[in-house]
Amino acid sequence: MMKQVISKYQVSMKLVRLKKLFICCVIAMMGLTIIFMIKVTRVWVHQVQYVSPVIPTIYVITPTYYRLEQKADLTRMSNTLLHVHHLHWIVVEDSVEKTKLVTYFLETCGVINTHLNISTPREKRLRGTELPRGVLQRNAGLDWIRTNLDPEVDEGVVYFADDDNTYNRKLFEEMRYTQRVSVWPVGLVGGLKHESPIVKNGKVKGWNAMYMPERNFAIDMAGFGVNINIILNHTKTKFSYSMLPGTLETSFLTALGTKIQDLEPRADGCTKVLVWHTRTEKTKIEKPKDGFLKQYKQEQFADVEV
Ligand code: UGA
Ligand code: MN
Repeated sequence: MMKQVISKYQVSMKLVRLKKLFICCVIAMMGLTIIFMIKVTRVWVHQVQYVSPVIPTIYVITPTYYRLEQKADLTRMSNTLLHVHHLHWIVVEDSVEKTKLVTYFLETCGVINTHLNISTPREKRLRGTELPRGVLQRNAGLDWIRTNLDPEVDEGVVYFADDDNTYNRKLFEEMRYTQRVSVWPVGLVGGLKHESPIVKNGKVKGWNAMYMPERNFAIDMAGFGVNINIILNHTKTKFSYSMLPGTLETSFLTALGTKIQDLEPRADGCTKVLVWHTRTEKTKIEKPKDGFLKQYKQEQFADVEV
């Protein structure tokens, strides 16, 4: 009888101990979970402070003009842009009317786009006058942005991307969260392997450029992105023919009130090249020889768009 009482007592004591152990385990687990949640929330809150829940749109303004290589260049560019989400391509033709070639190309390229046109007047096109290119076309793109976007609602960045450059798709994520003006190196430009902002302690301190290094912003058009708010707040800032080639960028950024200390260096502190100022070689078309004409009727090729 006594033996039975002791063993019952011992069993119930064991159960109490087990219960205590279980409760301790639960409390410890809850503690660990709370610590984990606090850490995760801190990281999350930290990120939310800097990254707005709205995904900013990248507005790419591209001037383009007719030459034999136009469609090939636009195709190459669109194939890159197709990899980028939340991107709006504003293609501005240097032409009196929208051409069939660019209209059909844009309808079928798969990139969200707006098609505009404005022709460069003859006197601004004359060879040897050293006038900058794409001036009126970029301004037409800026006008579209100022007419169609609302600083209270829209978030985004403007990037001036010529149709013959080469773009790494990663470049667009570098510029997406630009607060004011972001900058990065450009390859194969200005007589150098690359031109680049000089970055010290996370800030731009100067320019690695051979061509007019004394410019306030010695940077190519492909080397910076501007927050749309800055564009929308400076309603009058445009490109102008009074700017010499090579000074469009510095004049524009200065007119937007940019200060060198405001610049946001991207592409790993400007140590990576993600865009190249490539130029497509002009194609030499041979005059068809007699034998060729005999073999193939020339009319067969007449309506093939290149
Ligand atoms: C360099 C810079 O990278 C350009 O951003 C700058 O506008 C140009 O110099 C300049 O000095 O004006 P570059 O390769 O010499 O560029 O110029 P292009 O690529 O021939 O032209 C720049 C953009 O303007 C291109 O997208 C091109 O399609 C367009 N363009 C050019 C026109 O719309 N009309 C033209 O008559 C010529
Ligand atoms: Mn070019």
